[in-house]
Amino acid sequence: MDEAHHIAADFADGAAGARLRYHIVTYGCQMNVFDSRRIGQSLRLAGYEETADPVMADVILLNTCSVRDKPEKKVLATLARLRPLKEARPGTVLGVCGCVGQQHGQALLDRVPYLDLVFGPDRVVEAAALVEAARGGARLADVARQSRGDHAFAPVDPEAEPGPTAFLTVMKGCDKVCSYCIVPYVRGREVSKPVALVLDEVRRLVEGGVREVTLLGQNVNAYGKDLACGADFADLLAAIDAVPGLLRLRFVTSHPADADERMLSCFGRLRTVAPYLHLPVQAGSDRVLDRMRRGYTAAEYLDKIAIARRHCPDVALSTDVIVGYPGETREDFEATLRVVEAARYDTMFSFKYSPRPHTAAARLEDDVPEAEKADRLREVQSLQDRIGAERLARFLGRVEEVLVEGPSRAARTRGAGAQWSGRTATNHVVNFAARPGEPPAPGDLVRVRITDVLAHCLAGEPCDGAGGE
Ligand code: SAH
Ligand code: SF4
Ligand code: F3S
Repeated sequence: MDEAHHIAADFADGAAGARLRYHIVTYGCQMNVFDSRRIGQSLRLAGYEETADPVMADVILLNTCSVRDKPEKKVLATLARLRPLKEARPGTVLGVCGCVGQQHGQALLDRVPYLDLVFGPDRVVEAAALVEAARGGARLADVARQSRGDHAFAPVDPEAEPGPTAFLTVMKGCDKVCSYCIVPYVRGREVSKPVALVLDEVRRLVEGGVREVTLLGQNVNAYGKDLACGADFADLLAAIDAVPGLLRLRFVTSHPADADERMLSCFGRLRTVAPYLHLPVQAGSDRVLDRMRRGYTAAEYLDKIAIARRHCPDVALSTDVIVGYPGETREDFEATLRVVEAARYDTMFSFKYSPRPHTAAARLEDDVPEAEKADRLREVQSLQDRIGAERLARFLGRVEEVLVEGPSRAARTRGAGAQWSGRTATNHVVNFAARPGEPPAPGDLVRVRITDVLAHCLAGEPCDGAGGE
């Protein structure tokens, strides 16, 4: 039997009398993770059930990212891999949603003849209706945008959250104009979820067992600028902080230009706000920052970090860095190394510049050779590896409150020991062995003495003693 027939036979065996099944593959940022949950939720309400196996699925959706060229190309490669499956079972709905869907719309349908459905991030609320239309035989691309005053967000479903931690998108889009970035094009203008709605969702998540909520937005600390009520991001944090039963509140991504003292003082001031700040710097050279239109200098950026550390000395910091922006000289790059050295990040995400359509930088010559970009990436990463390890070492011997997420990866994959895993308030992963007869439950806060500092995580043992340093 050839592969296509094999797939068809599997399907015929598995699906007899069963409910329709969906399978979603998620790429990109946490907002896509959140959107995939909402799409799944709307399909479940329409009577579908989830399957982890695309071969068994009646609906396969790729929720995509177009922030760099590589993830965009990956979508086309995945579609090509799914082609035999689709051809063996023409009734399967194959769809692309998310940012690549928004970016290409109808053109993607035209280019990929076996694709049924394309929709953008603003159509998540309509996901089930779109899938149903595609099942009815329509080939459609819906990339309509939500208007600025329209606050229709797909609602959260506490029952769909599998553990004690949950993402919650509180605003969409981005009004910044960073020269290299396609996000404003694919995600549209900033739209904030009203405060009352966010509060209601946080309460419902907590009632459903969630203990830690991560607020999401491409530029999350610009929250509220479009709301008539005058609430800003610091107000939102303060309102959520008062929700009983919530243990930790995180948020990503903050933009340095919108990070003011009011917001930065939330660390250490509000009970639930966890000491973890992702504040992308992108580059250390003022000339490059200006050409990227980031709206701050390296000194201003470092000043924001100093403010956060003044309010909360132990705050963990992470960043994003781009190397090889058009015209970036060796000297410019060395300025990035100096900022990374000065900021002393806990973690860093670094990328080679990738020209994107619909961006201002796409008109500039991508003139840093690929090999040079790769060298700079390695150099900044190895600097950060050293700093990250030094930062992690500060935990040795400390007692940390760990929010238990579940069995550790080693326990899950190799059945090794009674290893549990959770995170410190600073977002560091801690693995620990429970005391005999006292297995923790996901969502518990366990005091753990850190006994080992490993490459990217911590290990320890539960203790009763006083916490702190
Ligand atoms: N809103 C966030 C994150 C945007 S996308 C912010 O303002 O920082 C996530 C990261 O991808 C960015 O921080 C940036 O480091 C990287 N990125 C965005 N566009 C890129 C491009 N064209 N090439 C390489 N990296 C890019
Ligand atoms: Fe992109 Fe800049 Fe907006 Fe971040 S702030 S999403 S990097 S345009
Ligand atoms: Fe990618 Fe879209 Fe997120 S481009 S980073 S999935 S907003």
